[in-house]
Amino acid sequence: MISVTVEASGIAVLSWDMAGRSQNVLNAESCQMLCDLIDEAAADGAVKGILMTSAKRDFIAGGDLEWLSATDDAAVLFERVMRLHRALRKLENCGKPVAMALPGSALGGGLELALAGHYRVAADNPKARFGLPEVTLGLLPGGGGTQRLPRLIGIQKALPLLLEGKRLKAADALKAGILHAVVAPGGEQEAARAWLHDAMLAAPSERVQQPWDVKGYKVPGGAVASPAVQQAIMAANALVHARTWGNYPAPHNILSCVYEGLITDIDTGLMTEARYFVQTVLSPEAKAMIRTLFFSMGEANKLAARPAGVPQQKYTKVGVLGAGMMGAGIAYKAAQAGLQVVLIDRAQADADKGKAYSQALLEKQAAHGQGTPEQAAALLARITPTTDYAQLAGCDIVIEAVFEDRALKAAVNARAEAVLGADAIYASNTSTLPISGLAEASARPAQFIGLHFFSPVDKMPLVEVIVGKQTSAATLARSLDLVQALGMTPIVVNDARGFYTSRVFSTYVLEGLAMLAEGVAPALIDNAGLQAGMPVGPLALTDEVSSELIHKIDRQTRLDLGAAYQGRPGHAVAARMVELGRIGKKAGQGYYDYPEAGKKRLWPGLAEHFPRAAAQPDPAQLVERLIAVQAVEAVRCMEEGVLTTARDADVGAILGWGFPAFRGGPLSEVDRDGAAAFLARCERLAASHGERFAPPALLRAMAQSGKTFYGA
Ligand code: NAI
Repeated sequence: MISVTVEASGIAVLSWDMAGRSQNVLNAESCQMLCDLIDEAAADGAVKGILMTSAKRDFIAGGDLEWLSATDDAAVLFERVMRLHRALRKLENCGKPVAMALPGSALGGGLELALAGHYRVAADNPKARFGLPEVTLGLLPGGGGTQRLPRLIGIQKALPLLLEGKRLKAADALKAGILHAVVAPGGEQEAARAWLHDAMLAAPSERVQQPWDVKGYKVPGGAVASPAVQQAIMAANALVHARTWGNYPAPHNILSCVYEGLITDIDTGLMTEARYFVQTVLSPEAKAMIRTLFFSMGEANKLAARPAGVPQQKYTKVGVLGAGMMGAGIAYKAAQAGLQVVLIDRAQADADKGKAYSQALLEKQAAHGQGTPEQAAALLARITPTTDYAQLAGCDIVIEAVFEDRALKAAVNARAEAVLGADAIYASNTSTLPISGLAEASARPAQFIGLHFFSPVDKMPLVEVIVGKQTSAATLARSLDLVQALGMTPIVVNDARGFYTSRVFSTYVLEGLAMLAEGVAPALIDNAGLQAGMPVGPLALTDEVSSELIHKIDRQTRLDLGAAYQGRPGHAVAARMVELGRIGKKAGQGYYDYPEAGKKRLWPGLAEHFPRAAAQPDPAQLVERLIAVQAVEAVRCMEEGVLTTARDADVGAILGWGFPAFRGGPLSEVDRDGAAAFLARCERLAASHGERFAPPALLRAMAQSGKTFYGA
């Protein structure tokens, strides 16, 4: 796991290479071994210097989250962290120089271990990243990161790294003062040895102390009490609150670690960090984030939903029908993944425009120093814009993204199928039309599936895979292979109106509109959305998607379902806005006005059409409704079999429409409440606000049996 070689020069080389894993991680075994090896190397008189490195591509990827989540015992966790702190303190204080040779990324616990060395040299590996990303999973760096990093580079420079979890490239980590040197790949161990030789020759007490252990040490850039640092901490605190509305404990606890830990000596600071670390790991927010963002997303990416026994499909050529906003984005993603793309539209100019979208994206990336001109040229060369369906011959899959029109979709399907090989899959990117209905036009409905991408495709990693009534297991398996090849995250849902994501997402928007109809102040509604943790308030969001679209879907559903369809109170509000011509952002006017210059502001005329009630509700009540309305709809999707796993519900919600990560997803939210408590909540809301909150039978059954979605 960690091999030790003591070289003739007296350098002990500790090289990490954990068996059966692509990455080294800090877990029970490796931590124990690390602590033991540090004890031994410190005590061994033959060892004059220590070189720590990795035989894998990267140094250490961080702490093993399975290990971290395995216990809820605060005392056990505290002692575990303190054991590591003691070992790292021994490493930096053993009187022997310690160099870290980093062949690739050192993240989280990996960087924290590296920070306990006296010298860090990294290979100039373009994929290598250095940082403390714990906060992105609701955690804080518990291996000394909140104490050593600010002591090394200064509080002001460390705060963004700690609070945003930024991952720096080697050159930037060098500039930030985290690394001492960056050398050509393969040269990092030699560079570390050279430094060790020099350090071993020098008088030990002079060279091998950390700056913070030297008498008279001052934090670079100023101590906590200095006015500039006080101001930086206050600004960071305000920013954290503005961005998160106090929903995430991790960034607050990180700030506390820095504030409290840096006014004392490092040993006391490390103890402070350990205390906050335990508190953070055990918070429901961290648990929810780790479960969904790490475990569930990991399972989805590993295609947990893939039917067994179907050979893996290798993709070389894909067709995309419709080179509009979605088609152009899908073509870019496929070409980026190395696939040949035939991009078809009605006119050559439209197809060319679709390809030009990729060019524009690549130019933007180049302006940010990403990618090489050769890579960009190769990507573009893989996209063939055309009007000629015959070019689809040989495609493994065709993804249709033409206008949202059943007859048009049927027509392009027939043209494509006439050219495609017998094995090829046909996928529609429809956002509203049921897949089974579209498949009726196909000559081979078993090979017909929904692949619902999100806009903008190059930024949104989710693909909602929709299984139609006749879609075969092999088609599902092979479609999932494509999603994986594109580097995206799939969820699998069964065909239904609005599928899963649009259906549940729309409940959030419509609940906001219902509040407006009740007379709630518009600013209060949008603030409640943000306070709930959603990225955008419901009114602003309606303007983004357009009231017209909401109204159109409502009308179509009414036509399709007749009297069985009730709609929601929010639909009347959307209809009224369409009548008023205030359809949203694209028209420059909706709930907000969008002046050409300046920021959007609420439309003053709203009060005339939706008069404000004299008494306004407590924002907490609005937050409760905005979240519960989504959670109860997600439960209905489980009950109806639209969803088959809680994993897909939660991953789809966070990636698809920005459901707040600290809640873990709508079904994690139900679990957190407990089915019985959530049932009572729904009953109360149904009594005061209507049937849309009425608890589904599944929820009642769960409340009775005590079952949870995650089976704990
Ligand atoms: P768009 O209007 O930007 O693009 C549609 C493209 O299809 C146009 O370039 C049009 O010229 C082309 N087209 C029309 N008839 C054609 C034909 N006979 N042969 C070839 N191309 C033809 O629309 P957008 O937004 O890209 O949407 C496309 C599909 O994706 C729709 O089904 C939509 O519901 C769905 N969708 C849209 C999302 C969005 O956010 N816009 C999100 C997810 C799905």
